[in-house]
Amino acid sequence: MQQAVRALPLGRARDALHGRWLGHPVHPLLVQVPVGSWLSAAVLDLFPGQRRAARTLIATGLGAALPAALAGWVDWAELHREQMRVGLVHAAANVAGIGLYAGSLTARLRGREALGRTLGLAGLGAVGVGGALGGHLAYRQASGANHAEHVPHLVRPGWHPLAELDDLPLGRPVRRDIDDIAVVAVRAEDDTVWVLAERCSHMAGPLSEGTVEDGCLRCPWHGSLFRLSDGWNVEGPATAPQPAFETRVVDGRVEARLRLEPTDRA
Ligand code: FES
Repeated sequence: MQQAVRALPLGRARDALHGRWLGHPVHPLLVQVPVGSWLSAAVLDLFPGQRRAARTLIATGLGAALPAALAGWVDWAELHREQMRVGLVHAAANVAGIGLYAGSLTARLRGREALGRTLGLAGLGAVGVGGALGGHLAYRQASGANHAEHVPHLVRPGWHPLAELDDLPLGRPVRRDIDDIAVVAVRAEDDTVWVLAERCSHMAGPLSEGTVEDGCLRCPWHGSLFRLSDGWNVEGPATAPQPAFETRVVDGRVEARLRLEPTDRA
């Protein structure tokens, strides 16, 4: 299934579905529409004279479930095995919910209101289970979280010794430490040294085992591409940039300090 999802010809839409443009996963945002529509339909079912409005909301939820599901599957294909397992049950519960709501809409359109309401309530229950598992995935298993968020909080302000310039190989990423934080350093032909946090913001992959490509560093795990000069995530699935460091050379020793975000500089 992972291979099939990765093989979908989505092009640039894949990064958009991951939420790279938003800075965090877009799937949780998209699911608000179907869940909100179906919950609202359940409330309207409690009142007489709201049949048409409830039908409209259920149909809206069914239409909105498709892009939400696609974004979820695209994220799912780049998870760890344990997360994938929970993700599959999450998806199965939601697929069951979608099926029940499709049945509910069909029953309502045929005038079988009682059956439509019963199927709708069952659908809401299934979607609720799916939502709870989605919360487990996000908060307990940290899928979709920024795995480099801690770095700016742990590195002390100011310049830190990194390495002797001559000890850094040319054009090849190497792992070093600043305070207790692992970083990856790349020395260019002109002796510019780029430093990023070592653990990928996507799922903590080791960037020092990645490959340098045209001023960027590609993560070995799922292929996110980070610009070496400032850590910008040029390609996903990473939705957050990589913490980056400024460097200087003093008496042959490379020193590094955390780069300030543009908002910090203002
Ligand atoms: S860990 Fe997934 S792209 Fe780096």
